[in-house]
Amino acid sequence: MTVKLALLGAGRIGQVHAHAISGIREATLVAVADPLETAASAVAHKYNCQVASIDEIAGMEGLNGVLICTPTNTHADLIERFARLGKAVFCEKPVDLDLQRVKTCLEVVREAGTPLMLGFNRRFDPHFAAVRKAVVDGRVGTVEQVSITSRDPGLPPFEYIDVSGGIFRDMTIHDFDIARFLLGEEVASVQATASVLVDPRVAEHDDFDTVTVVMTTADGKQCTIQNSRRAAYGYDQRLEVFGSTGMLTAENQRPVSIELANSDGFTRPQLHDFFMTRYMDAYAAEIRAFVDTILEGTIASPSGEDGLLALALAEAAIKSAKEGRKVQMSEIH
Ligand SMILES: NC(=O)c1ccc[n+]([C@@H]2O[C@H](COP(=O)([O-])OP(=O)(O)OC[C@H]3O[C@@H](n4cnc5c(N)ncnc54)[C@H](O)[C@@H]3O)[C@@H](O)[C@H]2O)c1
Repeated sequence: MTVKLALLGAGRIGQVHAHAISGIREATLVAVADPLETAASAVAHKYNCQVASIDEIAGMEGLNGVLICTPTNTHADLIERFARLGKAVFCEKPVDLDLQRVKTCLEVVREAGTPLMLGFNRRFDPHFAAVRKAVVDGRVGTVEQVSITSRDPGLPPFEYIDVSGGIFRDMTIHDFDIARFLLGEEVASVQATASVLVDPRVAEHDDFDTVTVVMTTADGKQCTIQNSRRAAYGYDQRLEVFGSTGMLTAENQRPVSIELANSDGFTRPQLHDFFMTRYMDAYAAEIRAFVDTILEGTIASPSGEDGLLALALAEAAIKSAKEGRKVQMSEIH
């Protein structure tokens, strides 16, 4: 069987996923929709598929699934529409910026009984996945502390910030998901601090650019997350899991892994410039997993529920930063 997929939204991440589909023998991209004609045509031309409207895609015979890569405020409606049509849905994070809206959307998906997979690509990064496997295999004993560092190379455009839902819902949400993935149990409380240190205009757009989050599980396991919207040295993506018998680390990755030693010292190449290159393998593996879900009927993972739980952590962090206190997750759910 060849899995027939349609792409909704041909922007930054849509193009990455179109590329991933092209590398899967059992899948084919049959159509792309984007109100921006040039964006849709570029993908259609590159991957040999048709440009279509969302309505035309909804009416397509034999379509197995859609990839929703449109702006966040369109996700929940599109998920519901295609779930009701019985299509498998892959949707970029987050499902919505509003927790209640996410819950009603997931209810529709449950009733439809169709798979919904969320775009938490970092779970599929080979390095982070290897850390998780080692944790599950007990290689560091009982997990006690998780540390996640995630810094973008530079600020996104302010038009993006305005519709993003803010740094916690847009950026930290990936780290909230990875934290849950590595801790192996749910977070009980969240304490966050947030500042504008990179560019004062971020405050005018009602957002922060520098945040630190401390989370604790019911058993007292701890997790820290540090985010910045600007790292002078590139896209900084590292994590560490400390346990009762050892420690696991996933270091920054570079396009080439070499080191030059000379009389000036030791020099390594720059880090990856951003997510499109750093997580290329992860995006390929996540779309492979989505196709396997359709082919083999396996449960979609990460799920809509994972999306909901990560967003709930973002809400707790926002509340904590604004109110200057530790927030219990029981206040959010
Ligand atoms: N997982 C990740 O690493 C990752 C990375 C970037 C973005 N994202 C998420 O992906 C989504 C898109 O982000 P982006 O950076 O690609 O944005 P983008 O602005 O580059 O692309 C969005 C595209 O969707 C199109 N569009 C708008 N409304 C549409 C509609 N109703 N139907 C079809 N197309 C429509 C726009 O014309 C645009 O081309 C966001 O929700 C974002 O949070 C995830």
